[in-house]
Amino acid sequence: MNIAVLGSGGREHALAWSLAKSPKCGRLYAIPGNGGTAQVAENVANLDICNGEALCGFVRYHDIDLVVIGPEAPLVAGVADALRSAGALVFGPGAQGAQLEGSKTFSKRFMERVGIPTAEYGTFDNAEEAKAYARRMGAPVVVKADGLAAGKGVIVADNLDDALEAIDECFSGHFGDAGSRVVVEECLTGPECSLLAFVTAGKAFCMTTAQDHKRAYDGDLGPNTGGMGVYSPVPIVEPEELSAMQRAMQQAAAATAEAPFEHDYRGVLYGGFMLTPQGPKVLEFNARFGDPETQVILPRLKSDLVDVMVAVAAGKPEDVHLEWRDEWAVAVVLASEGYPGPYEKGKVILGIDEAEAVDDVIVFHAGTALNQDEELVTAGGRVLNVVALGKSFEEARGRCYDAVERINFEGKRFRTDIGAKAAAGRSSWE
Ligand code: AMP
Ligand code: GLY
Repeated sequence: MNIAVLGSGGREHALAWSLAKSPKCGRLYAIPGNGGTAQVAENVANLDICNGEALCGFVRYHDIDLVVIGPEAPLVAGVADALRSAGALVFGPGAQGAQLEGSKTFSKRFMERVGIPTAEYGTFDNAEEAKAYARRMGAPVVVKADGLAAGKGVIVADNLDDALEAIDECFSGHFGDAGSRVVVEECLTGPECSLLAFVTAGKAFCMTTAQDHKRAYDGDLGPNTGGMGVYSPVPIVEPEELSAMQRAMQQAAAATAEAPFEHDYRGVLYGGFMLTPQGPKVLEFNARFGDPETQVILPRLKSDLVDVMVAVAAGKPEDVHLEWRDEWAVAVVLASEGYPGPYEKGKVILGIDEAEAVDDVIVFHAGTALNQDEELVTAGGRVLNVVALGKSFEEARGRCYDAVERINFEGKRFRTDIGAKAAAGRSSWE
């Protein structure tokens, strides 16, 4: 089978790495890919991953059997629909299904209709009504730009002034069109936990739990980032919480196949949960694999990812079989100095082989490139994802940080406390 993966982050390196392991994988393309995907696939530059027509041409010319869409932008832009109508097998929902991520209002209304536990909310097209609702709700309160804002459109306001300012900021065009509608939401408390599921023909096949670390600095301080580290599974989740999360994912999957939605959803549904004292509630749905969650989930997958993705893309739930390694996985993100603000690129990266010499360590590339001298250099804010597996959480964490120390580039930054709270137990969230 010839396969194309769309996207250029650590998630896409993990996807390409996992697909390439399958004996069924023929030619593998990464569009545009990065320095890591180049090791397992052919990178294709100069093709816009949001241009359905151009991608259809590529798929025909290169005889591609399966297209795997990594990021949200092409999903929301309807690239899966365009490729499907041209006859390709596509892993990823069409534009309608992707609205679960592309519009917070759509997603909240979906949850309300289906009966999935979530925060109380109001949705507004003008600042005055949004402010009135925020005042009624009182601080702390959460303000969300409705559309895609690259993970930056959510403001958790500790006081009312910050909430009102955030509302003004959304409507002033700060987030572009994404902010022309705003969701104001009850502030929930508790540990966060992600549960991703393969969804096809109204059925959800849940993966294992994972927990991201979104803040830039140790102790969950500093600005929000695309994710600084992650581990899987999440040891602090109680069995009844896991059942409630799985139930929510099944409910959501079933609803995508029924009226009034009928999305024919074929891809990953990502549930971002908060484990509140009243039980798990959904903070957000994403219509794709998480980044960096994928980098700890896929190394734990024993089943052949090509088989799973083909079954999902073909709408054949009877052919989806998932088996997991009974191991823990921890990933630490190595970032460029300054990230998530401005940072320099082009710093030479050394020590990846030495890091991968540690037992059960894999290094996925997130923002790397080869320079004119064919040296591997930094090319993004998040540069590398160092992933380690282990028989225990402590073993995986120990191996991961051992490997992290072996990699060097100028300005290397990382969090030293990935998984520390989980290791300390549930009480560390209270
Ligand atoms: P989202 O993009 O909706 O996942 O929001 C990004 C982050 O904002 C989440 O990971 C949470 O940490 C936080 N957040 C979102 N919604 C809420 C909420 N209702 N209460 C508290 N925190 C929230
Ligand atoms: N790790 C969060 C996300 O992928 O949205």
